[in-house]
Amino acid sequence: MKVTVVGAGAVGATCADNIARAALAEELVLLDIKEGLAEGKAQDMMQTAALLEFDTRITGSTNDYSKTANSDVVVITSGLPRKPGMTREELIGTNAGIVKGVTENILKHSPNAILIIISNPMDTMTYLALTSTGLPKNRIIGMGGALDSARFRYQLSQQLGCSPADLNAVVVGGHGDTTMIPLIRLATWNSVPVTKFLSEAQQQQVVADTMVGGATLTKLIGTSAWYAPGAAGAAMVEAIVRDEKKLFTCCVSLNGEYGQKDICLGVPVVIGRNGWEKILDFGLNADEQALFAKSAAAVRSMNDVLKTL
Ligand code: LAC
Repeated sequence: MKVTVVGAGAVGATCADNIARAALAEELVLLDIKEGLAEGKAQDMMQTAALLEFDTRITGSTNDYSKTANSDVVVITSGLPRKPGMTREELIGTNAGIVKGVTENILKHSPNAILIIISNPMDTMTYLALTSTGLPKNRIIGMGGALDSARFRYQLSQQLGCSPADLNAVVVGGHGDTTMIPLIRLATWNSVPVTKFLSEAQQQQVVADTMVGGATLTKLIGTSAWYAPGAAGAAMVEAIVRDEKKLFTCCVSLNGEYGQKDICLGVPVVIGRNGWEKILDFGLNADEQALFAKSAAAVRSMNDVLKTL
């Protein structure tokens, strides 16, 4: 397998590091526009191979897309990250141009690649990648829900005093502070609903903390987070290259599912060798469905901004 990560900033490098450590690919290419950055980080990571005992060959490239040729999976992290106080949505103008250029260059050299989109605003960048490339919809997957669901499990684990690994919990909808929907009604602790153990106030706290998970970190760190976003991207790469048929909530093209069309939004999907392979209907109740429609409206108005660029 060959995997490319575009963008050697904190998220891209962390994603690549996770991919290498888990030996998900024989070849891993890190690409960035900043002279020497990808080469340097690739070499630094390669120097961990003797210690961590992985066989992945990691190479870096300054904007030479021919090095990425014939990649099976490409993770796109390019673009500006958030600064404290900024929403993901404010990045749209700058990042749209970057993501469009990157996807075109990637597909010239890897026409069969599956694309994982991490760049923000992620829902709109996924929609842009889909509409500007015309690729089959199953080959374009936005990462948001995989990250937000991990953050949801973290917040639940803090309230419950349990292992995040024992929790099943997903976030659907958009990857925005006000558009994501942590589905607490459906969350379980080893198959028992978490609502059995948490008061109404605790549940509301978990949901609120999950929704501003990224913003909280941006405020603390001074820039956008990277460990969990990078790990979420790598987990999706793993599901593809190992054909795991693993369920993630990810941002994918909807054609009537969850009542929406002509939009990319976070829903439960099965991910395997063909990208996202099917969408599952989790049977949202009326309140959740209303939140989903509201989230879709907000994302749609962001997507409309693309037409003005
Ligand atoms: C975050 C960015 C990656 O949520 O969107 O941290």
